Amino acid sequence: MRLHLNENTAGCSPAVMDTLRGLGRTAAAFYPDYETALQAVAGHLGVPVDYVALTNGLDEGILAAAAAACRDHSNGVPEALGVSPAFDEYEICTTAVGGRMVTVALDDDFDLSADKIRAAVTPRTRIVFLANPHNPSGRAIPLATLRALAKDVAPAIFFADEAYADFSGDTLIDVDTFAALPNLVVGRTFSKAYGLAGLRIGVIVAAPETLAPLRRVVPPFSVNAWAVAALPVAIADRGYRQWYLEQAAESRALLTGACERLGLRTWPSAANFLLVRVADAPGTVTALAARGVIVRDRSGDPGCGQCIRITAGIVEDTRRAISALEEVLCAAR
Ligand SMILES: Cc1ncc(COP(=O)(O)O)c(C=O)c1O
Repeated sequence: MRLHLNENTAGCSPAVMDTLRGLGRTAAAFYPDYETALQAVAGHLGVPVDYVALTNGLDEGILAAAAAACRDHSNGVPEALGVSPAFDEYEICTTAVGGRMVTVALDDDFDLSADKIRAAVTPRTRIVFLANPHNPSGRAIPLATLRALAKDVAPAIFFADEAYADFSGDTLIDVDTFAALPNLVVGRTFSKAYGLAGLRIGVIVAAPETLAPLRRVVPPFSVNAWAVAALPVAIADRGYRQWYLEQAAESRALLTGACERLGLRTWPSAANFLLVRVADAPGTVTALAARGVIVRDRSGDPGCGQCIRITAGIVEDTRRAISALEEVLCAAR
């Protein structure tokens, strides 16, 4: 049971599979046409089509943003700013394109101090990466805090990573917000709530002039024909998405309750996962794996001593995972 990468543990919508099965030989032979997928995603997000670029997963969107932001070395090594702990790709992509990652530590509750971020901005800061909800804690950041911070860090790009926004329901995507914040770029993925992680599709969303330098970095056909065919169908199947969001919310509550009973520390999560402090993270991960439950050891991350991260997927999986966790912890005691 894969509960380590925050995937949709039920799989994609059955309607998506029907569409994929129906693709003919030319779908593989021809370069993909993005028009239908772009219209679908723009309509879904409530922005004009030219505010959206498709990417090969949000990972590619992060790489494109880092590359576009860190092109200019005339004032020294360009800097990306973020928090610690955070999703690894911000640092990996920044250093891959010749930039330097600067991080500000979150407090023990993984609360963001916007002032600490402001204080860390230098003339070389080209981009600020923040995930909302935060990964690995799942903590939500108030949208008002993000809007104020985006304004204050300009002209640096403010990259709001909304990989888990389907679960929280909070988003900065809105035409008026983009008009007020020309440095804002929002990243979204269809890997999580929509169950398309294996197909690799995400989007970056921003005002057209802001998006232009990022578009130049994304290769012309980086999203393949299967992903492009799946996306409009996945978006149209609202019932499936809603069902999955409810499963994830119930699973999160079940996991939180179980951890409370077991005396384990957790943090309120707005995402489809829960960060849990156990006595021995590597030992717990190994013992759970022996019972067929894969969870993520985050104990090496700053501020995450002895923490594991567990995906809140379908309720059936969660109940099995909780039984395995109870067994492992009781055996350890
Ligand atoms: C915060 C965050 N951003 C981006 C991604 C990348 O998503 P994708 O699968 O679309 O590349 C992930 C995936 O785990 C994530 O946790």
